[in-house]
Amino acid sequence: MTVLVASLLFVPAQAGATRTSVEPRAERYSTAIGGESPTPANPVAPLPRAGISVIGGTETPVATVPWQVALVSNGGGSVKDRQFCGGTLVAPTIVITAAHCVLDNGQQTPPGTYQVVSGRSHLNATSQGTSTAVVDSVIWVDELDRPLFEDARQEWDVAVLELASPAAGEPILIAGPAERALWATGRLGRVSGWGVTRSAPYGTNQLMSTEVALLPDLSCRRAYRKFGGFRPATQLCAGRALGGHDTCQGDSGGPLVAYGADGTPRLVGITSYGRGCAGKYSPGVYARVAADPVRSAVADLLETSQGIDAVGDGALPPAQLSGLAARENAWLYLEPDCFEWGPCLAYDVKWCRWTGSGHRCLVTENAYRRRDGRFHCSQQVFVGISGDSIMRQGVTKWQCRRGWL
Ligand code: ARG
Repeated sequence: MTVLVASLLFVPAQAGATRTSVEPRAERYSTAIGGESPTPANPVAPLPRAGISVIGGTETPVATVPWQVALVSNGGGSVKDRQFCGGTLVAPTIVITAAHCVLDNGQQTPPGTYQVVSGRSHLNATSQGTSTAVVDSVIWVDELDRPLFEDARQEWDVAVLELASPAAGEPILIAGPAERALWATGRLGRVSGWGVTRSAPYGTNQLMSTEVALLPDLSCRRAYRKFGGFRPATQLCAGRALGGHDTCQGDSGGPLVAYGADGTPRLVGITSYGRGCAGKYSPGVYARVAADPVRSAVADLLETSQGIDAVGDGALPPAQLSGLAARENAWLYLEPDCFEWGPCLAYDVKWCRWTGSGHRCLVTENAYRRRDGRFHCSQQVFVGISGDSIMRQGVTKWQCRRGWL
């Protein structure tokens, strides 16, 4: 039995966040409630969850995201068919993943029932990379030993795995307190995994990745109001305003990474859940691992139990927004107006151009001007983005035509 090493102080939630009275503490697998023995005689393999891989992504060699690992159940069949979650190396023997990846009915899955595959782009290419046993897993629980992760709320979707030996690949640091600008709203992040894609309903053999925008809490509050709610203290919203690029089932536990000006990667989110995948106005939800209370909980555990500093410092955000980031920002800027129309009809960012001092974007707005829908109208809005400022730079008159769009 491993004795509990860290008793973690709950840091008050940020403004607007849901408060909770629990004091989270780290719970090792070996002290799991129910008194399961650490090496059960008949290990039960974690059930692969049904779901979707990276949507809208492209094939990505693991060398591009060398911190990416796969969680794979032990047993027969191909590695690809046994992969059930992703994870992120934050030290050679430490993986961060999602709590829901290692929980089954509120109980931690015995670590001896799955492996961590690292340094491998194609899961079935068993000659590549390393497959490593997991010796311990840690999730966070309340005073009554109940996991802080619950299906109904999806909070604290974070777990730390300790490996038997160093994994292949390169660890990444969690974005630190002074690196908040790296993952400010409107910045981009990269998500990766072997989960469901449009053409692979059971996930892929080849690692995939895509870029998503870091979205305001409002985007997920709106999307998840009727779907369990969004809790910004422990959850982060990311995706594309108009959908098409997202993580999906099988990607859970994997990284959402933001990049500094010089390309320094930082972990900012853990793939957690979503309403479907890649839908319009339906972004993905990630565990907010780079902000308290989650970051301190993870950092304190790693420092106390392993002497590892897993938190970054000194990375600065890129000075210039990419065209993709500009498009997402133009949309986000107009989003409140769009939703004022009730069901937001369409705000279509046609293009963004770099002007030398900033971006200029053209957005077409479509709406029905009459309740009876006898007219559809459109107007064009120009949006200028430069540095930290974003504003309207002119609107054309509504052009209306009879009939439906
Ligand atoms: N819960 C899923 C998993 O276990 C991840 C879903 C992410 N969904 C999304 N739309 N971003 O793999």
